[in-house]
Amino acid sequence: MRRIAALWLAPVLLWGASLALNAGAADADPAKGKQIYEIYCQTCHGPTGDGQGPVGKSLQPPPRDFTAGDFKFGGTDQDIFDVITNGAAVKGGSPLMAPWGAVIPEADRWALVKYIRSLKK
Ligand code: HEC
Repeated sequence: MRRIAALWLAPVLLWGASLALNAGAADADPAKGKQIYEIYCQTCHGPTGDGQGPVGKSLQPPPRDFTAGDFKFGGTDQDIFDVITNGAAVKGGSPLMAPWGAVIPEADRWALVKYIRSLKK
């Protein structure tokens, strides 16, 4: 019986540990964020984050200019994380800012939050 309990406990503890590891931008790696940004975000938000990427410059509303550091849907790490995860439309914004939660793993989305913050001039 005790052995069965231990078997059940191990995955629960691992799950708890992974939650703790992913809880927020504090420990996220901005270098990893940059890698992900260059793959998924740069065409719109631009290589420097000014919103003037090759696709982004023709969009209305324009992609957010991260060098200005102003955010429309709340400026906390959690707010930015939520827009990346669920898209801007659920907050009344543009569907052009799509939800990435199903594409980019949670830890990488936190890394993106950290990288985006580092683009402020
Ligand atoms: C197809 C173009 C496009 C792509 C690709 C794109 N975005 Fe956006 N993004 C936008 C647009 C347009 C807005 C402005 C939405 C609005 O104002 O309603 C925006 C807004 C944002 C905001 C601002 C939220 C706020 O509160 O002001 C964040 C953060 C963001 N994008 C992050 C990202 C990240 C991270 C990626 C890559 C995973 C990404 N975007 C990919 C077009 C794009």
